[in-house]
Amino acid sequence: MIHNSSPTIVVIGCGVIGLSSALSLQEVLRNDKSKSSWQVVIVSKEWPTSIPGAPTHHSIEYSSMWAGAHVRPIPGTTEQLRQEGLWLKQTVSKFNSLLKAGNQIGLALAPAIEVFEAPGNGYKAQTAESFEADSGLKGYRELTAEELPNGTVLGFEYESYCINSPVYCGDLLRKFIIAGGKTINATLRSVDEASIITPNVQFVVNASGIGFNDSKVFPIRGHIVLTNSTCFDKTITRQNMDGTWNFIIPRFFSGGTVIGGTKEPHDWRRQPDSATCHRLITGVQDLKQHVLSNGSPSQPENMSVIQEIVGRRPAREGGLRLEIEFPGNMNSTESKLPVLHAYGAGGRGFEISWGVAESVAELARSLMVKLDQIKGRLARL
Ligand SMILES: Cc1cc2nc3c(=O)[nH]c(=O)nc-3n(C[C@H](O)[C@H](O)[C@H](O)COP(=O)(O)OP(=O)(O)OC[C@H]3O[C@@H](n4cnc5c(N)ncnc54)[C@H](O)[C@@H]3O)c2cc1C
Ligand SMILES: *[C@@H]1O[C@H](CO)[C@@H](O)[C@H](O)[C@H]1NC(C)=O
Ligand SMILES: *[C@@H]1O[C@H](CO)[C@@H](O)[C@H](O)[C@H]1NC(C)=O
Ligand SMILES: *[C@@H]1O[C@H](CO)[C@@H](O)[C@H](O)[C@H]1NC(C)=O
Ligand SMILES: *[C@@H]1O[C@H](CO)[C@@H](O)[C@H](O)[C@H]1NC(C)=O
Ligand SMILES: *[C@@H]1O[C@H](CO)[C@@H](O)[C@H](O)[C@H]1NC(C)=O
Ligand SMILES: *[C@@H]1O[C@H](CO)[C@@H](O)[C@H](O)[C@H]1NC(C)=O
Repeated sequence: MIHNSSPTIVVIGCGVIGLSSALSLQEVLRNDKSKSSWQVVIVSKEWPTSIPGAPTHHSIEYSSMWAGAHVRPIPGTTEQLRQEGLWLKQTVSKFNSLLKAGNQIGLALAPAIEVFEAPGNGYKAQTAESFEADSGLKGYRELTAEELPNGTVLGFEYESYCINSPVYCGDLLRKFIIAGGKTINATLRSVDEASIITPNVQFVVNASGIGFNDSKVFPIRGHIVLTNSTCFDKTITRQNMDGTWNFIIPRFFSGGTVIGGTKEPHDWRRQPDSATCHRLITGVQDLKQHVLSNGSPSQPENMSVIQEIVGRRPAREGGLRLEIEFPGNMNSTESKLPVLHAYGAGGRGFEISWGVAESVAELARSLMVKLDQIKGRLARL
């Protein structure tokens, strides 16, 4: 039931960014007595109901259903990477407290290994101290020459997180609903539509991922393979000289193992291709042999493919758009509403999710102050 009288914040999108933001907004409202009658409504055309391997109708645009996903810090060599690094650190801190609080579904602490054929300077300069200070992740250790897989020249390990993305998003949605959140299943044609989809909307959060038509937004195609393997207890990533990647991400909570993957900007192909699938599977045989020679898996196992997956990462030139857009003159009585944009997370939506959500909450708090002031002024007219 949507309460018609309640002042409402509409969040467009039920991906990891919309969900995390919606939960943070609920907390903002809980902590502000003057907003106790407010509610948050998620409007989306797709919802986290996917069980990979079982029938599903999700589009390849619904990125959060297809993500690996793990947390893998990237050295802050550009402005955008430094901003994402801050969000990642906030997310790591939130993941920690979520796991401590228990009952967390879809999220697991797990060792991570990264190896490189031709590491950039940012990776070469990294130390245990700088890595932990930048990311909040513990246990950083450089691999010895003997531990490095053939062809790689640098490697390290640390304690990270693996996320079974459909399960995790389903859990966030359950938490949102239990906390009083409302949902509307609809395909919006424009953001204007969001402001009238339910009565008394105060402002709109645009977390539509690849969304509708920002010309700066483009897809990065990701081809991964979901297998039935259960022998990995860590996530392993290899960056090759030619720009290709090989990675293994266990999907804890009975989700098999993701073998990846490609990162193909502006590539609109929807179908997986068998050559890539073959390259990915072969690529991890090598990682299994070399990186895991002293630990799991103890036995070579027969791995079968459950599903070949293609997803689109919602990338944006310059990175995620995070700002409030005010329609026309805020002091006029025109009906258009402010929009708080939070889209274009690219390949990092899960690992930066809670940092972005906290920024959304901050912007929302400042926006609500502004809206209160305008209301006060209009009331005096
Ligand atoms: C193969 C692959 C591997 C990845 N691995 C990782 C990883 O290891 N770590 C990591 O952090 N990230 C990873 N990512 C990236 C991650 O999936 C994305 O960054 C993240 O899912 C983006 O979330 P989002 O909420 O912005 O967008 P989405 O998940 O795409 O959600 C957008 C939402 O908006 C809704 N919507 C859009 N348009 C409309 C409309 N017109 N009307 C109504 N609703 C609308 C959609 O239905 C959807 O609910 C990976 C992605 C892929 C494809
Ligand atoms: C290591 O890689 C080189 C070059 O790719 C190859 O010639 C050699 O056979 C490999 N060695 C092993 C042990 O796989
Ligand atoms: C949402 O609505 C669309 C269009 O009416 C429908 O096809 C889809 O099944 C609905 N999704 C859910 C989860 O109800
Ligand atoms: C897309 O952009 C065009 C031109 O900028 C604009 O006229 C149109 O309303 C936009 N459509 C949507 C769905 O936002
Ligand atoms: C909302 O976000 C989408 C990208 O997901 C973008 O195409 C669209 O233009 C945004 N809406 C507005 C009004 O800017
Ligand atoms: C893998 O499958 C082959 C053929 O089906 C079988 O001979 C072999 O024993 C299996 N290996 C394992 C580790 O299960
Ligand atoms: C995966 O599937 C293969 C082929 O069916 C089978 O041999 C193997 O035991 C399965 N692995 C697991 C962990 O179930």
